[in-house]
Formats: sequence, structure tokens, C-alpha cells
Amino acid sequence: MIISFISQKGGVGKSALARLIAVEFAREGWSVKIGDLDTGQGSTVNWKSRRDMNGVKPEIPAEKYATVKRAINDAENFDLMILDGPAFAERGGLDMAKASDLVILPTGYSLDDMPPQIETAQDLEKSGVGLEKIVFLFCRADASEVEDRDARAYLKRAGMSVFDHVLPERPSIRQAHNNGKSASEVSAKSVRDKVLLLAQEIANKLTKKQEG
Ligand SMILES: Nc1ncnc2c1ncn2[C@@H]1O[C@H](COP(=O)(O)OP(=O)(O)OP(=O)(O)O)[C@@H](O)[C@H]1O
Ligand SMILES: [Mg+2]
Repeated sequence: MIISFISQKGGVGKSALARLIAVEFAREGWSVKIGDLDTGQGSTVNWKSRRDMNGVKPEIPAEKYATVKRAINDAENFDLMILDGPAFAERGGLDMAKASDLVILPTGYSLDDMPPQIETAQDLEKSGVGLEKIVFLFCRADASEVEDRDARAYLKRAGMSVFDHVLPERPSIRQAHNNGKSASEVSAKSVRDKVLLLAQEIANKLTKKQEG
């Protein structure tokens, strides 16, 4: 299976989510690989090096692919290929989405963040990617309840579906990344529990698709 994290904007949390999903599926015994398509920075490949240097287990294979096509070809060698998209995905984003079982569009809560992602979803749909496999996810989330509710209503009006759980913005998650860990490997149990609920919701969506 293939899961993609796509956004035109940088810094929304694509790589954070890719690492989380890789670690949690690996823990469940799946063979996983992160396809790092941010060929300039290769930030997830660098994260993997920090992970190995610090001896963090499970080991997570990650590779920088020059093209989306190469990553997709390699997907057949793993239970799950996780495509960590670059900023400004454009055409590459369409190729990623077409090949994916699930496409996740991370977004913040603001009107600077949501409309470009709605546009991305609409462009993908026009190019033949079914909306049923596209799901929004509030990432680096720090909103009040009211703001969260309003943002969900906004996405719903645009015809988009959204995960119930969010990836909260926490200094401990940033530090975890610095140490080659995922958001689910922070020491604070309250943060970990919240993040694990999100990972479970994503896993449910992906495996429900597999059954149906
Ligand atoms: N939940 C979080 N809490 C705190 N910091 C976070 C969180 N998620 C991500 N970050 C930090 O925010 C920065 C951007 O996140 P990330 O690299 O995941 O975004 P991205 O969408 O992959 O960016 P790019 O488009 O540049 O690849 C990183 O420094 C990361 O460690
Ligand atoms: Mg990234």
C-alpha cells in the first residue's frame, strides 16, 4: 500500500506525519519505507541518520528518490510505502496521489492554510483522484475549541473530510524529531497518548480501505 502526505506549503507537518506513521506501522510488524521526495533537503533521510546514530528502534528505512515514479516502483517491496512530499508538489503531487491508497493533506487552522489545500484537493479530484481517498488533517495544532469547530465547518462546506484527531504543536515533538524520534516517541505520556490516537485513526482509515 502507499500513503502520501502532500501540501504546496512548506512546514505544515508532512514529514512529522510520515515519521509517525512509519514508526507506528513498523511497531505493528509491517515492513515500511519512507520515500523522501524532498530531494533538496532530504530532511527525513537526515532524520533517519539521527535515529540510527542514537540507536532508536525500530529502524526505519528511508530513501531520497529523485522521481515519484522510482518511489512508486519500490513500493511493491514493502507492506507500506510512505511518501513524504516536497513543498510545491505540483505535478509530482498528482503522481503521488494517483498511486496512493490514502492521501493526507496536512493543514493549519487559518485562512492562509486551508484554502490552498482545498484547491489542491479540488485539482486532484479534477485529475481523477477520488475525494474518498483524500483526508485533511490538522497539524501542528494549537487552536481553541471554537477555532477547531469553525475550521472543521469550513472544510465540510468545501466538501472535504477531516480526521477527528489532530497532531498537536508541542516543543517535545520538535525535540523528538531532533533526536531521530517520531511524535509518538516523546517521553510525555499525555502527548504520546494523543498522538497514538491520531496514528490509530489513520491506520483504521487505511486498513478499512484495504478490506473494502
Ligand atoms: N507537532 C509538532 N510540534 C512541534 N513541532 C513540530 C510539529 N510537527 C512538526 N514540527 C516541526 O516543524 C517543522 C516543520 O515540520 P515538518 O518538517 O514536518 O513539515 P513539512 O511539511 O514536512 O515541511 P517541508 O515542506 O519543508 O518538507 C520541523 O522543524 C518540525 O520538527
Ligand atoms: Mg518535509
